[in-house]
Amino acid sequence: MSRRRILVTAALPYANGPIHLGHMLEYVQTDIWARFQRARGHEVVFAWADDAHGTPIMLNAEKRGMTPEQLIELFGEQHERDFRDFGISHDNFSSTHSETNRELVEEIWQKLVDGGSVVTRTIEQFFDTEKSLFLPDRFIRGSCPRCKAPEQYGDSCESCGATYEPTDLIEPRSVLSGSTPVMKSTEHHFVTLKPFEEGLKAWMRSGPLQDEVANKLDEWFEGGLRDWDVTRDAPYFGFRIPGTEDKYFYVWLDAPVGYLSSFKEVCRARGLDFDAWVRPGADAEMHHFIGKDIIYFHCLFWPAMLEGAGFKRPDTVHAHGFLTVNGTKMSKSRGTFIMARTWLDHLPPDVLRYYFAAKLGPGLADLDLNFDDFINRVNSDLVGKLVNIASRAAGFVHRLGGGTLSATLPDADLYREFTDASEAIAEDYEQRNFASAIRRIMALADRANQYVDEHKPWKMAKEEGRAVEVVAVCTQALNLFRVLTTWLSPVIPTIAENAGTFLNDDLMSWAGLDEPLLDHRIENFQPLARRVEPRQIEALMNDAKESLESTESSSDTAETAPKLELAPEITIDDFIKVDLRVARIAEAGFVEGADKLLRLVLDLGGETRQVFAGIRGAYEPADLEGRLTVMVANLKPRKMRFGMSEGMVLAAGGDDGGPYLLSPDSDAQPGMRVK
Ligand code: 2FM
Ligand code: ZN
Repeated sequence: MSRRRILVTAALPYANGPIHLGHMLEYVQTDIWARFQRARGHEVVFAWADDAHGTPIMLNAEKRGMTPEQLIELFGEQHERDFRDFGISHDNFSSTHSETNRELVEEIWQKLVDGGSVVTRTIEQFFDTEKSLFLPDRFIRGSCPRCKAPEQYGDSCESCGATYEPTDLIEPRSVLSGSTPVMKSTEHHFVTLKPFEEGLKAWMRSGPLQDEVANKLDEWFEGGLRDWDVTRDAPYFGFRIPGTEDKYFYVWLDAPVGYLSSFKEVCRARGLDFDAWVRPGADAEMHHFIGKDIIYFHCLFWPAMLEGAGFKRPDTVHAHGFLTVNGTKMSKSRGTFIMARTWLDHLPPDVLRYYFAAKLGPGLADLDLNFDDFINRVNSDLVGKLVNIASRAAGFVHRLGGGTLSATLPDADLYREFTDASEAIAEDYEQRNFASAIRRIMALADRANQYVDEHKPWKMAKEEGRAVEVVAVCTQALNLFRVLTTWLSPVIPTIAENAGTFLNDDLMSWAGLDEPLLDHRIENFQPLARRVEPRQIEALMNDAKESLESTESSSDTAETAPKLELAPEITIDDFIKVDLRVARIAEAGFVEGADKLLRLVLDLGGETRQVFAGIRGAYEPADLEGRLTVMVANLKPRKMRFGMSEGMVLAAGGDDGGPYLLSPDSDAQPGMRVK
């Protein structure tokens, strides 16, 4: 087999918050694949970086009283520490704010301009006059133009799923200042995708994508490709567009270029020929691992940019699903929103890596980290099956064989049976079907344990004159353990490294497996993996809850308004302008044509008000009648498709569920002021 040259990347995390287990799912997946390719003898470069630009990073830095440069440095260092401690084997961790990236972005941009792929248009955009800032879609909120649900983002409605322009929102306001944004015109550059359509289709047919992803692309082609707005107006933290004073490249333009610039830094350090890896016809491969939410960027914009700028397109873009914990979205209040560092404070990285691998298939399905299943799986497979083989055999080799393995294998056929499985396991890894690889490996681990059980070395050891036989059986067992651990080394690198120390052998390469270890000195056995105890999980989850306060100010979302950030500070005078009143729900009913809304008639102790509230998903109307709640009583009435809405009820809610209607104690009286 010839030696392949493989460039591997994982999506670049925003340098704006800590790394959590949702991120780690992708990085572990990428790392397993990269380590597997190295173990097979290929030349691999895993080039990586932080994604350092964009409005959220600029605002987060401002909030912390730092420069964006300081903020991205802080998180860059923190991220890299987390990754190293999780055993991620990247060859470089750079930043999209690097000079190398700036140069490459400018080079690519110039090629796109010269190739006629850039058009300039004047557009109208919402502008926050208080903050002097053009507002990204996610920084504008208002009522949905379709279902009228309040508090929706500028690009889509979480209530009814409608997508629209921010200008369609009813009563839009800036998330940053609360002010009503005004329309302002500005000149933007767009990359036109139409000229790349045929090239993209041909690329897609060459097999770089999973079927589900290719189908998505077909849908997008059918819907027509729109030009891509790659301009952001100052103030913005990013690279200035050459030839402009106050226009910047949108973060998503320079982010994927970060893959190449990180790789370029490796080339410089190692004397590799950059062009020989990344230009069309190169004798090298390029593979991207990404989450399913950023397919559009990686499967349309990025290959189009690469083609337009004279680079080869990716050989594969591998998308994966999201992580859920105990069956639901990670939740801060339940203690399942777990940071990478919190995990490392309680448990070793390899057990999580193993669990992810055991459940990762080649598709886009979400992966659930179920803690009961996790404990069973790790204790049964890693401790009970794998490590058990070595711990049962090692002592006898020292006690009866002076620490040296015997010179022949008693069951060479069994050893061959194992090594014959190498190619099928390799193919599983290659196709990113890690779950299948693990199944095959664990079936053979069972076989190895069965071998030990059948020969009972502990019994033989008690019998006179059978020492040589005992060492031979243990030599067989340890050789099977060596094969299994070598196959698993991409998944559990720390365990494999320690097992290598024990066996005096390098378990990181598959090449040596053809020959068993014979007449070979081994070291004393040290425990390679410990059982996971339920109390460790409890402590982990408690810690995850506790570490909330310290991490929530640094949400990792990017072109998303940081969800836990507070609205701008107000004075008591501002607050008392809001007239909050206790109200009794006198009537509640469905609204025809609005599947998220309920119509409420609220009794304020004499007066009644009609309010449309987006709470239909959470409450049966009959259950609400008679209940007390709190409403904004002096909200300017709004005309909706179904009638006037004369106020607003208060409800808690967000990512963790809800909405939860607020209620005062039951002896509060309708009409009472809430302050
Ligand atoms: O979605 C994200 O978290 C982005 N920071 C991923 C960027 S991947 C690449 F394009 F840089
Ligand atoms: Zn809606």
